[in-house]
Amino acid sequence: MKDSAHKTDDALLESGRKHYLPNYAPAPMILDRGKGARLWDTQGKEYVDLGAGISVTALGHGDEELVAIMAEQGARLWHVSNLYFSEPAIRLAEELCAATFAERVFFCNSGAEANEAAIKLARKHASIRHGDERKREILTFRGGFHGRTLATVTATAQPKYHQGFEPLPGGFRYADYNETEALEAEIGDRTCAVLVEPIQGEGGVVPAAPGFLAEISRCCRRHEALLIFDEVQSGLGRSGRLFAHQWEEGVVPDVVTIAKSLAGGLPMGAMLVGPAAADTLQPGSHGSTFGGNPVAAAVARAVLRRVLSKELIANVERQGERLRARLLALHNESGMIEEVRGRGLMIGAVLRKEWAGRAGELVEICRQHGVLVLQAGPDVLRFLPPLNILDEELDEGMDRFAAALAAADSAAAESAGVE
Ligand SMILES: Cc1ncc(COP(=O)(O)O)c(C=O)c1O
Repeated sequence: MKDSAHKTDDALLESGRKHYLPNYAPAPMILDRGKGARLWDTQGKEYVDLGAGISVTALGHGDEELVAIMAEQGARLWHVSNLYFSEPAIRLAEELCAATFAERVFFCNSGAEANEAAIKLARKHASIRHGDERKREILTFRGGFHGRTLATVTATAQPKYHQGFEPLPGGFRYADYNETEALEAEIGDRTCAVLVEPIQGEGGVVPAAPGFLAEISRCCRRHEALLIFDEVQSGLGRSGRLFAHQWEEGVVPDVVTIAKSLAGGLPMGAMLVGPAAADTLQPGSHGSTFGGNPVAAAVARAVLRRVLSKELIANVERQGERLRARLLALHNESGMIEEVRGRGLMIGAVLRKEWAGRAGELVEICRQHGVLVLQAGPDVLRFLPPLNILDEELDEGMDRFAAALAAADSAAAESAGVE
């Protein structure tokens, strides 16, 4: 690589660091192109992408069908606002309803926006149905993550996300995740909704324990509270089922929020609403200028069709097993992994005590070894590869991951020896 190219990159990185708000700390590289589960930076270094842009590029990078649909729809019509219908959004809404419990759909642009809509819908539903102003409380769970807007960050029961943003909006209550016995006392007549991730993602890749979601559902029915599943990260095939809550038998939600992989990488979110609350939000009560964007909707239709295919779900199951097997082998070989958990292609490797708190450091060592993985909190490495990842892509990624762990381990042993 020519010197001038290096200089250009360094200058670009410098500019990014200077001109972005410092709320992110991006890795020191500039990604340039991608194909399938592989990415290349501007220096030509290749990475196997086992994070899929945090569960977004579910069909990988540069998928020919998605790119063609995007170009075609972009050339035809790419924005109309919500003052008018467009065919891709109508068809997507129809197909989402046909494939799920939903009767109606609200489109937006992100997970936080979908959850914000669900929070507003729950409050409005309670105000119409019950009038009683005490029935406005939304129950969420410690370790959960629901977004960064003021209401969704308040729904996120993790104090580290709240600090400095007070006063937070009222009307939220927090309970312990997977504490099934304690639910009865947490949900009452004041509860208008329960908002819960069927697998906690950011909180460490923690699946709901058997019976937990069913008990939430029972309590919601008993107290006429809406049951809202946040499937922003876990939904759309990632867990090996269309929705992760479907691993629990017989639980039918009132609302499900999705985003991330819905349009395969274009910004799109949606709130799916079942019959109990489908007519709650009347004209003027809520909205989003870009919601239902025709380009995103056209691409999302193709994503949904493929996510609903037996082939893709079979790949999630098979590659999920292969990924898990590699991690379990590493658990046996190296002293760094304590536990492997999750479902389908949403998997967390919990670090052993000696490595606790060092997930961020390991993520960077992995990147230097040519594999992109994520962290979920300080103690868990998180894997969310594209759902259509190929055998050789996963194998190559896991070989690089194993090499990265070995390098980190021997560097740690060396520095312990020196001390
Ligand atoms: C479960 C869950 N809900 C909501 C969000 C927020 O989504 P967004 O970043 O698109 O607003 C996330 C993002 O990580 C998430 O994992």
